[in-house]
Amino acid sequence: MGSQAKFLRGFSRVEPQTLSFVIFTGCFLISMALLVVSAGYFVSFPSLSSWLSTREAPPVPGAKENLSPHQLDAISQNVDVQQKPLCDTSDRRADICDMEGDVRVNANSSSIIYVTSSVRNTAVRQESWRIKPFPRKGDLAALSRVTEMSVGYLSTDEDVLKCDVKSSVPAIIFANGGYVGNFFHEVTDLIIPVYITSHKFNGEVQFLISDILPWWITKYELLLKKLSNYEIIDFNKDTVVRCYPRVIVGVTFHRDMSIDPARSGGVTMFDFGKFIRKTYSLERETAIKLGPNEDKKPRLLIVARNRTRRFTNVDEIARAVEWQGFEPVIAEFKKNQSLAEFAQIVNSCDGILGVHGAGLTNLIFLPTNAVVIQVVPLGGLESYCYSDYGVPTLEMKMRYLQYSIGIMESSLVDRYGITNPVVLNPKVVLAQKDGWRNWTSIYFFNQDVKLDVSRFSSFLIHTRDLLHQ
Ligand SMILES: *[C@@H]1O[C@H](CO)[C@@H](O)[C@H](O)[C@H]1NC(C)=O
Ligand SMILES: *[C@@H]1O[C@H](CO)[C@@H](O)[C@H](O)[C@H]1NC(C)=O
Ligand SMILES: *[C@@H]1O[C@H](CO)[C@@H](O)[C@H](O)[C@H]1NC(C)=O
Ligand SMILES: *[C@@H]1O[C@H](CO)[C@@H](O)[C@H](O)[C@H]1NC(C)=O
Repeated sequence: MGSQAKFLRGFSRVEPQTLSFVIFTGCFLISMALLVVSAGYFVSFPSLSSWLSTREAPPVPGAKENLSPHQLDAISQNVDVQQKPLCDTSDRRADICDMEGDVRVNANSSSIIYVTSSVRNTAVRQESWRIKPFPRKGDLAALSRVTEMSVGYLSTDEDVLKCDVKSSVPAIIFANGGYVGNFFHEVTDLIIPVYITSHKFNGEVQFLISDILPWWITKYELLLKKLSNYEIIDFNKDTVVRCYPRVIVGVTFHRDMSIDPARSGGVTMFDFGKFIRKTYSLERETAIKLGPNEDKKPRLLIVARNRTRRFTNVDEIARAVEWQGFEPVIAEFKKNQSLAEFAQIVNSCDGILGVHGAGLTNLIFLPTNAVVIQVVPLGGLESYCYSDYGVPTLEMKMRYLQYSIGIMESSLVDRYGITNPVVLNPKVVLAQKDGWRNWTSIYFFNQDVKLDVSRFSSFLIHTRDLLHQ
């Protein structure tokens, strides 16, 4: 048991993306556990007012009969902007509170308070929510470091916290945390949700970020500045009461690496790509279009990876790529490289080739019409690979090819032998009791790929054909 726990901790550190996969694939296997987790997470909190009273706020006044004429007036005039519940906890991945009116943020006590003059419905007014503003609901590992916030109502006749800072623009509150450190997760769990939630304000919105990781802020500074014209507030260090006309707690998640235009007011992943190019001043809007005389060489970025799911014959792959008339570009984002700098390299390419993994997330920097080739290792990962990187590629109006390796291209053959079920039938591994542990360990963390360049050559030919169109 102890060693299993250690193993789990170990692999969430090595490559968190896989843990998330386990968690969502695991839905079949451990759905009960997850249900308990997410139900436990939403156990309603004692009402905000009683919670505040421990902080010397006065008790909530009684119901309707105690209303002053002024309050009755307010009710009849319906002065509150907000009519719906403050928070929506129905989404699978993210709880969102969206409050319009008089909203006060007291970061000292991690509370966000909607001040209302209408006390029409005491039961409603006493509702409150506890929110972790990071879109991986139910994923305890991802949320473990995320500050929990409390959202609730307060009536105007109570001793409302005075505004130290009054803002005329809305605020969005969200957390760093989760599996940041893995580029896929940084983009799918935060960058895209922050974009979905904030782009419509055209910069006229302030971010309050909790559990800040300074390197994350540095890495994405350009992007954050493009989405917000205002200073970023470090939620956990803020000691003043901030008042806003609107506050959104949490960021909206649709699908991994994807934006659903039906839920985003028409904004698509293609728009996201344009936004990224603009943010990082990426010059190439569209990939090369090969003409009849084929004088120019398309550039193909090869993601080598160097710890897990490595290409073990990168040089041979590069030669094959060159042989088929491409200029091979072998590059990988280095820890302290600027993202803008790396984005330029990716954008200078017309395609990307890589084994399934976070490096493929760089496709967000590619020009329209570029070709993404995902190499799928053994393990029965095809549909998962497709949804992570195939769908976003197509949504960004690029072309997508998926290459499933043959068993001889997997390092698992050397390790287990060609007749072993691990090689021949990964489903058997998964079907064992707690099989997902072995399965993750074997196929994600202990498998490298030696691409069979002659088997693969038809994919390169196809890629050239696509760049002619
Ligand atoms: C928040 O805490 C700081 C330090 O404890 C204190 O100086 C400040 O007055 C507090 N602010 C509010 C609004 O409670
Ligand atoms: C991975 O990259 C690091 C730093 O660039 C290097 O020190 C290490 O040897 C590489 N590992 C492998 C297996 O290539
Ligand atoms: C990377 O970081 C190291 C140590 O923090 C520093 O010495 C080096 O100059 C940095 N390299 C780049 C390219 O920023
Ligand atoms: C899976 O793990 C168990 C122990 O947890 C081990 O006994 C078994 O041999 C493993 N199966 C494979 C295919 O590696």
